[in-house]
Amino acid sequence: MTIKTNTERITFHDAIATMEVDFANMTFADAAQVDTMYDEIESRLTETGRRWFFLVIYTDCVIAPEAWDRFAERGKNANINHGLGSVRVGATAQTRDAIRQSAGQESFRSNIYDSRDQALLALGEMRKRKRDMQAATEEAFLRVENVSLSFGGVKAITGVSFDIKRGEISSIIGPNGAGKSSMLNVINGVYHPQEGAITFLGNVRRQMNPRAAATQGIARTFQNIALFKGMSVLDNIMTGRNLKMKANLLQQAFWLGPAQREELEHRVKVEEIIDFLEIQHIRKTPVGRLPYGLQKRVDLARALAMEPQLLLLDEPMAGMNVEEKQDMCRFILDVNDQFGTTVLLIEHDMGVVMDLSDFVVVLDHGEKIAEGTADEVRSDPVVISAYLGASH
Ligand SMILES: Nc1ncnc2c1ncn2[C@@H]1O[C@H](COP(=O)(O)OP(=O)(O)OP(=O)(O)O)[C@@H](O)[C@H]1O
Ligand SMILES: [Mg+2]
Repeated sequence: MTIKTNTERITFHDAIATMEVDFANMTFADAAQVDTMYDEIESRLTETGRRWFFLVIYTDCVIAPEAWDRFAERGKNANINHGLGSVRVGATAQTRDAIRQSAGQESFRSNIYDSRDQALLALGEMRKRKRDMQAATEEAFLRVENVSLSFGGVKAITGVSFDIKRGEISSIIGPNGAGKSSMLNVINGVYHPQEGAITFLGNVRRQMNPRAAATQGIARTFQNIALFKGMSVLDNIMTGRNLKMKANLLQQAFWLGPAQREELEHRVKVEEIIDFLEIQHIRKTPVGRLPYGLQKRVDLARALAMEPQLLLLDEPMAGMNVEEKQDMCRFILDVNDQFGTTVLLIEHDMGVVMDLSDFVVVLDHGEKIAEGTADEVRSDPVVISAYLGASH
């Protein structure tokens, strides 16, 4: 029989978030031997920088009475520092008793199984429980709950609910007049729904105004570009910083003290965004003179200048040619990647939606008819018939 080194006794199974430790045929005669093994375990765990489930094999492992206390102590510490839970296999009657006893004292679950298969099943259960618990406690980043909105007799949105996760790119799709833009307008406080609530970062509200939404970190671009056409690109982007400017108007007018310093800080931020979106060459150009695709990019720059946590984009690629669309796609992915900004966009081009979205909500006639991954909704018969029935 070949004897395993301590290093060979430790295996990380990434797919099931499990570290397997094989104590089979080992003898721990004293505390020093326990330390040698556990030092190796601790250092390997520390290296990974994350927590693991533990699958511990005890087949024909002997822990001498002199070593037992140290063994229990080191095991417990590894669990506290790096563990998500442990399952144990193959312990002898004596070891079982010792594990059960220390479990009783320290109030952890002893989780001892006869075979590795049983242990793996138990591990699956533990992982599922943990996931469910996390899902239940994880506060929704943006939660839209039972929102209804009408204009006089026109029902724009009827009882729509969905959750947006932090850090994801999500899309709202649907035929013309489905209520997509209205939904964004509810989220950023331009429209006030008659029913329902919006929860953003734990704050529940029925109504809010666009300024309050912006202060909370929600920025928005519009289906019809809302820029000052006569003003330069740079000045338009600076308007995105207004909310963050603290100095009063008088100070600004005289270019004094804190106002001067503040203005400079804002300029630095704006320059960063100009670099990021590759629009240095047009910074002085009046927006009205730019081709449509570039105007859309400047609108994105203005929204980014607010340093939002949630970026709402209403048809960011509408009216663009293929090349401009590809650029915009890349910028949206880069914003999400590099700034960690959560993105919710409306888009008609299904190719773009497929490429970009982690999650898709489908509206039709103001109602949610489907949600899921891009692949899921694309093959949903209800979605297909909504699109076929709609005149585009
Ligand atoms: N300010 C408003 N006043 C009256 N009716 C409105 C208003 N805004 C939207 N509506 C109506 O609400 C419904 C949904 O419109 P919305 O603009 O949200 O649709 P959409 O999905 O964004 O459509 P599109 O793809 O054409 O942009 C439409 O019937 C529209 O006419
Ligand atoms: Mg719209």
